[in-house]
Amino acid sequence: MISTKPLIVGNWKMNGLRSATGELHKLINGLGEQGSPSAEVMICPPLTLVMAFSHIASESELQIGAQDCHTEISGAYTGDVSAEMLADAGASAVILGHSERRSYHGERDRDVRDKARAAYRAGLQAIICVGETEGQRRLGLTFDVLRRQLHGSVPASATRRNTIVAYEPVWAIGTGKTPTREEIGEAHNFIAQELGSVLGGEASAGFRILYGGSVTPDNAAMVLSAMDVHGALVGGASLKADSLLAIASAQ
Ligand code: G3P
Repeated sequence: MISTKPLIVGNWKMNGLRSATGELHKLINGLGEQGSPSAEVMICPPLTLVMAFSHIASESELQIGAQDCHTEISGAYTGDVSAEMLADAGASAVILGHSERRSYHGERDRDVRDKARAAYRAGLQAIICVGETEGQRRLGLTFDVLRRQLHGSVPASATRRNTIVAYEPVWAIGTGKTPTREEIGEAHNFIAQELGSVLGGEASAGFRILYGGSVTPDNAAMVLSAMDVHGALVGGASLKADSLLAIASAQ
């Protein structure tokens, strides 16, 4: 059964040394104190911490994910890590197609789709990111971009169980700018409809769609109340347990 609680995913990006384990303990304790937390929470730390964090979180409600994977199971791919290796390290999900991967590593929609298939093969959930740049929004191309990215990045075998979509407008990432509640709702509703055309009506029902881009404890309630928003993908504000706990309990 897919939970109806919002899902709050902390994307630590390239932040965090072993000393950050203290924040993880604080987060686990904070969730424990909430008894039955109002949201599901996942942390996607840098790769070096995935195994240690999975071990620490294994007796708790906290889920651990990763930030990228290779398409192959193993082989001569220096510096890369397969989805199977992430699963072996204890991850249950992997973020794919983040705009930072798309722009700094040239990831194309079809690369994201192939990585998502690799994630399914390894039993991981794929958190597939889509979103327009500021220029594209200004030109009125937001829905065209989302349509192209969804059709190109989401495999035909995606289901509500193995896939989560994250709407991350590139201009809102790390900038402190956020779309209005109406703009977020509009984009999420479009994504929900478009998934119907990618996967077929029935298969696309019940997909979780997260919003990401400058989510903080101050705007989390607004974000989470927008139409078709089922949680948040949080960057900077996820690095501190207190602020992530505040986001997870804001509704
Ligand atoms: O994946 C989360 C992200 O890109 C948003 O980052 O720092 O704006 O919350 P931030």
